[in-house]
Amino acid sequence: MSDITDPIIVMKQEVGRAAANRVKSDSIVGLGTGSTTAYAIEYLGDRLSQGEIKNIVGIPTSFQAEVLAKKYNIPLTTLDAVDHIDVAIDGADEVDPQKNLIKGGGAAHTREKVVDSLATEFIVVVDSGKLTDKLGSTFLLPVEVIPMAITPAMNALKKLGGEPSLRMGIKKAGPVVTDQGNLVVDVKFDEITNPEELEKTINNIPGVLENGLFVGVTDIVLVGEIKDGQPTVREM
Ligand code: 5RP
Repeated sequence: MSDITDPIIVMKQEVGRAAANRVKSDSIVGLGTGSTTAYAIEYLGDRLSQGEIKNIVGIPTSFQAEVLAKKYNIPLTTLDAVDHIDVAIDGADEVDPQKNLIKGGGAAHTREKVVDSLATEFIVVVDSGKLTDKLGSTFLLPVEVIPMAITPAMNALKKLGGEPSLRMGIKKAGPVVTDQGNLVVDVKFDEITNPEELEKTINNIPGVLENGLFVGVTDIVLVGEIKDGQPTVREM
């Protein structure tokens, strides 16, 4: 059971609720991945079941999001069946002052980038601990790589000045395998001075499917904070 007195959990809940409250009836909604978005999906389901909003369809960014949407009775669709996404709600591991992100803590950044980039409005939900002046300061950069290319791709990441490490499973022997059946390399860079260029350079390495830099994609960042002992949500 989660500890509802834990301030980080309270911030995640509040920011998830605030994002769910922005969704209007008759919307196609991108459903992100992670512990913060999980609350947004739950509250969206609550609003639907209470009749506060109607005619919502979700597009999940991961197996986790799909399972949660089904649990909370949010109807789902696919990108083959729609011609747009109205709003996407997703978490992040780091957010810089330009609203650029590092994502992929849940190894879902490839599908997340597809869905979040297509949305007319992309809302990022984070607790205040995710804000940083420079991307890469606190979080390693996730890179999804097809399995047969893992060695040359890691060598290429080293040549770019990174320190790559293969992400290993927890409570599972061996590496993390993504929803697409690929591997994830977490890369430490001393500093990421030009995220836009690095995003493209890494994606140009043969065998790399996608990296966790999201540059120029975010519209709104909702930040959960504790002020004077009370949880609050502000727009960055
Ligand atoms: C998954 C992600 C998540 O959105 C990110 O890791 C944030 O997760 P959380 O809300 O659990 O901190 O990018 O790939």
